[in-house]
Amino acid sequence: VSLATTFTERVGVELPIVQAPMATSTSPELVAAVSEAGALGSLPVALLEPDAVREQIRAVRALTDRPFNVNLFALGDVPAPAAGAEAATDAVMGPHRERLGVPEPGAPAALALSELVAAELEVIAAERVPVVSFTFGIPPLDAVREAGAVIVGTATSVAEAVALADAGVDVVVAQGSEAGGHRGTFLGPPERSLVGTIALVPQVVDAVGVPVLAAGGIMDGRGIAAALALGAAGAQLGTAFLRCAEAATPVPYREALAAAADTATTVTDIFTGRHARMIETRVIEELLDGVPAPLPFPLQAARTRPVHAAAAERGERELMFLLSGQGAPLGRDLPAAELVAALARETEAARAT
Ligand SMILES: Cc1cc2nc3c(=O)[nH]c(=O)nc-3n(C[C@H](O)[C@H](O)[C@H](O)COP(=O)(O)O)c2cc1C
Repeated sequence: VSLATTFTERVGVELPIVQAPMATSTSPELVAAVSEAGALGSLPVALLEPDAVREQIRAVRALTDRPFNVNLFALGDVPAPAAGAEAATDAVMGPHRERLGVPEPGAPAALALSELVAAELEVIAAERVPVVSFTFGIPPLDAVREAGAVIVGTATSVAEAVALADAGVDVVVAQGSEAGGHRGTFLGPPERSLVGTIALVPQVVDAVGVPVLAAGGIMDGRGIAAALALGAAGAQLGTAFLRCAEAATPVPYREALAAAADTATTVTDIFTGRHARMIETRVIEELLDGVPAPLPFPLQAARTRPVHAAAAERGERELMFLLSGQGAPLGRDLPAAELVAALARETEAARAT
């Protein structure tokens, strides 16, 4: 059974499988191992400064000659929030910070993110990264287009997929509501853009003329074969790679994923200011109870996230922020190359039946 698709041909990989970019959980070692195994590894650079972006790209390049993807956040400027808007969040997080010895964050201030994103894109273009993907919107694409990158945008609805295609992207990721991590939603209310993968993928395939990657809840070859049957040209898997040896996932996070049930996750904006699917730990319950509205993304994360690392060190899972998809119980502890080989084998088997 051949697994070649319009996506594998466009990008120059063997397998229609993408390791999803996962900010803070991905390492250059994971990206390179996935690309070496014939799939496409994705390096998330989120809101890193340009020098750090360059360093991370070169760290991947030192480990592989194969194509890989660099992913960033398509965000605009963030205005300063109203004075005192952080008080409710600080009332919840303050005692945890104090007990864990985590310093108080400074007062929330405006962020010039348009400038940062443009600078990141300049570095990505200059480094001649073969594939560039983004989420949360549509960034200025001229620099990476001129550098010859394959451009991949994220959609959570048909309208977003059409907007991405109109902006000239080469590939659309259709991110269904099962997906772990942040919703890519950039048009309309996120609560309304929780379309499941099996409903979203064929609608996006029918609406755009470019290859579509299915994302959300796909954990094994059965899921990848299903995505291909729906008309997708490949599948992007995040949660499935979180327990790989090379992932930067702390041990208590791995344990929580291994112990999670299908019903363990919720979608909330209370952690970062943008909606994300995550395991509902105690700290999330406390924030949901105590905070009427979060600060805008990413200002809310600056007040919540610092506790996560300290809690991870102490194995205090209930104070951690555990982004995860609904498929977590299907996850496996495997080195990335073995996971990719298993996914390819299972996909072929599922396609042959
Ligand atoms: C821990 C984690 C971090 C993520 N970070 C990013 C990111 O930085 N950029 C991005 O485009 N998507 C990010 N995502 C979303 C993934 O790209 C993808 O849509 C999702 O993992 C697919 O669903 P699955 O987890 O069920 O496989 C993240 C997902 C997870 C689980």
